[in-house]
Amino acid sequence: MYKTNLIEGAKKVLNSNFNEEKGFTIPCEGLYPFQWHWDSGFIAIGYAHYDIEKAKREVESLLSGQWENGFIPHIVFHNESDTYFPGPDYHRSDLHPSSPKTIKTTGITQPPVLGFVLKEIYDIARDKQDVLEFIRRNIDKIFKNHEHFYKYRDPHDEGLVYIYHNWESGTDNSPIWDEIWKIMDPPKYKYERKDTTHVDASQRPTNREYDCYLHLLEIAKAHNYDDAKIAELSPFLVQDPLFNAILIKSNEALIELYHILGGNEDKVEVLKSWQNKAKDSFEAKLFNEELGSYVYYDLRNQKQIAFTTSSSFTPLFAGIPNTGRANKLAHRLLKNFGSEDLFFCASFDPKSEQFKPKKYWRGPVWINLNWLIYKGLKRYKYYELAERLKQETIKYIEKHGFYEYFDARKDQFENAAYGGKNFSWSAALTLDLLNE
Ligand code: GLC
Repeated sequence: MYKTNLIEGAKKVLNSNFNEEKGFTIPCEGLYPFQWHWDSGFIAIGYAHYDIEKAKREVESLLSGQWENGFIPHIVFHNESDTYFPGPDYHRSDLHPSSPKTIKTTGITQPPVLGFVLKEIYDIARDKQDVLEFIRRNIDKIFKNHEHFYKYRDPHDEGLVYIYHNWESGTDNSPIWDEIWKIMDPPKYKYERKDTTHVDASQRPTNREYDCYLHLLEIAKAHNYDDAKIAELSPFLVQDPLFNAILIKSNEALIELYHILGGNEDKVEVLKSWQNKAKDSFEAKLFNEELGSYVYYDLRNQKQIAFTTSSSFTPLFAGIPNTGRANKLAHRLLKNFGSEDLFFCASFDPKSEQFKPKKYWRGPVWINLNWLIYKGLKRYKYYELAERLKQETIKYIEKHGFYEYFDARKDQFENAAYGGKNFSWSAALTLDLLNE
């Protein structure tokens, strides 16, 4: 019974966040009024379960914001809205010669989910031929996007790409970035934040953090979003395990899809060579033996950032660790994130002093990360853990609805829902979990 209600509820959220005229879905009314990159990917997976045309439109409207050089931005501004800062006039994508002439975007990106999203849509769709047509139309654009990453975001040719902004990570205010903020000295900018008018300010990043976020964008804009200049000058240059795991998973999906389409041997070869290098470097550089988990590498300051976050477990999703490492990872997950007093999966190590159970990416549970970890656990045959994670994810939604993030502490379950409500990816991924 609850299952039917949840499915209907999820569809309602997605349908009401869909912009019919422009063919894309906002993450959340008021708080996020434009098209966001990785949100759209997760949303398309949800649509694939009941309205394949919408799934296709979602992906293609995102791709309409792709730059000529292959870059896919983190926000595409199809529409106008004054409920969000910083908007199109701040980001100024027109500064870069490759940006689209007719549509405004940002000049930063987000985890490159589209490759694996195409494969998910293909797996879900009933009419495979029809969906293959859609994939054939779009797959080279995603290949070109990956090419852009390896060409411009991998200065030492390691197969690992950097992000130059915390908003690119998708995990905006994670404590992971704190060390970087400490050594930055941003001016105090004058601007009006909009996020704190929608959500309790105590759950959101501080003003100083916001000044740092804007300062990184100012540096990039001062050089017209030139990649080489950003690599040379940005104080924030990080190899993030979530971002790179997603890229690797998307490479894998592109290889599978090119095989299904036939031909394309040259592209498959290129993808395989990226893939081998990427996995080797990932293993060599992003694992921390003491923690028994994957961590971040600060490329600017040349050191690991040694904390475990929910992102640390996503290499399972991409099939990166060998069995030994996967075991260590599952152990760490259970011990620190899955103890008796907690539901899965806090976004930051609950045993750390920096854990903040209500503050956005400093502790709360996010449905998309739970989904990625769930898929990863299944891939490595940790069926029991996977099932627990799935049930706990659904339990949040069943109790509270499609909120943006949740409190991991069991004793706070009654009031565990935070952030925006009717949040699109929470709805889309619930649909996917329920339709398995
Ligand atoms: C927040 C999240 C980011 C998400 C965006 C839109 O910025 O941190 O991951 O893409 O909202 O939902």
